Amino acid sequence: MQCVDPVRNPYAPGAGQRPPELAGRGRELDAFDVVLERVARGRPERSLVLTGLRGVGKTVLLNTLRSAAIGRLWGTGKIEARPDQSLRRPVSAALHMAIRELAPHHRDPDRVDEVLSVLKAFALRVNDPNGKIRDRWSPGIDVPPARGRADSGDIEIDLVELFTDAASVATDVGTGIALFIDEMQDLGPADVSALCAACHELSQLGAPLIVVGAGLPHLPAVLSAAKSYSERLFRYQRIDRLDRVSADLALSAPAAREDVEYEAKALDLLYEKSGGYPYFVQAYGKATWDHAPQSPVTDADVRVAAPEAEAELAVGFFGSRFERATPAEREYMRAMATLSGDPDNDMDAAVPTAEIATALGRKPASLSPARDALIKKGLIYSGERGTVAFTVPHFGRYLRTQPV
Ligand SMILES: Nc1ncnc2c1ncn2[C@@H]1O[C@H](COP(=O)(O)OP(=O)(O)OP(=O)(O)O)[C@@H](O)[C@H]1O
Ligand SMILES: [Mg+2]
Repeated sequence: MQCVDPVRNPYAPGAGQRPPELAGRGRELDAFDVVLERVARGRPERSLVLTGLRGVGKTVLLNTLRSAAIGRLWGTGKIEARPDQSLRRPVSAALHMAIRELAPHHRDPDRVDEVLSVLKAFALRVNDPNGKIRDRWSPGIDVPPARGRADSGDIEIDLVELFTDAASVATDVGTGIALFIDEMQDLGPADVSALCAACHELSQLGAPLIVVGAGLPHLPAVLSAAKSYSERLFRYQRIDRLDRVSADLALSAPAAREDVEYEAKALDLLYEKSGGYPYFVQAYGKATWDHAPQSPVTDADVRVAAPEAEAELAVGFFGSRFERATPAEREYMRAMATLSGDPDNDMDAAVPTAEIATALGRKPASLSPARDALIKKGLIYSGERGTVAFTVPHFGRYLRTQPV
């Protein structure tokens, strides 16, 4: 009998935590390899956008795609979009990183410096109505800023010029540049619009720079609201919960490396509890490991451990998000939770906003501020017109168990 050592617990619940086994994403990784290969050869290719609920593994996949790009000697940079933050500074820092990665492979340091000077000009051009530079950013670029390129102040023009110049460095090296944007739904409308325009321009030129985005399920709607052609610009990949085989692999492959096995019934119960959502797979896996006295892990071990996993999820996954909502927004979500419950499978369905208004005895229009604020906070999204749904899996179920 093998003892299950808590020190060697391999599971990693947590936002952006690299899982011990990236299960069930082979299709996405293969598709990205094709994209990298085609773009580096100047073939027309759409940029990738990953969408999915909270905790399904978008950030982790984005990081893995980035590693794949680095493995092919691409220049890469990553940003995490934030509401109310302009794209200019983060994009500058990310592209700086990308160019630094490419520079050692480039034959002509002067050409690289030219592009860096354009990058610096772009970064220093701050769109502040008061003309003040609020956050002084020192780009760490030693060359003086260029004049008359990427510094018009119009983000759309500037991005196209910057991307074109950055891509030319990659062309010289024979690879490409990939800019990764996490939480992409949080970009402001002007930035989304500019980004689409820049991607459009670059793909027409066959320039090897792609944007790889990740965000909540309504991200495609955010992009097409900015530019109607965005549907042709991006290849959307819905990142979903793991199927049974992948969820089992996510648990058993790391365990096998520690000489620990699961009984079939333990895996049955773990899948029932996690629903295949990667965050939950890691959370239940971790708690179960800590409680299992020996290998093989049994369904009884899972049963003993489950309350601990649930308590941790209640704090770290659900509670921390619920805390971000105001009292009015909480009331809105509670009404949503009551209406979204499906007694048959305990999953959450999308809810018509009109029904929420009725349940709360309010006029629909009076609830728009709460709804919009919750969308902005990334707690709910509007997939189909006139309905809202939780971005957090099992959130409705969690709220239904909470005392008011
Ligand atoms: N393919 C996978 N196999 C196993 N575990 C995974 C997989 N993808 C992600 N995870 C685990 O799921 C958790 C959530 O991953 P991640 O933070 O990437 O999700 P996310 O979609 O970015 O969530 P959010 O929308 O909250 O940012 C992490 O603990 C991670 O280790
Ligand atoms: Mg994430």
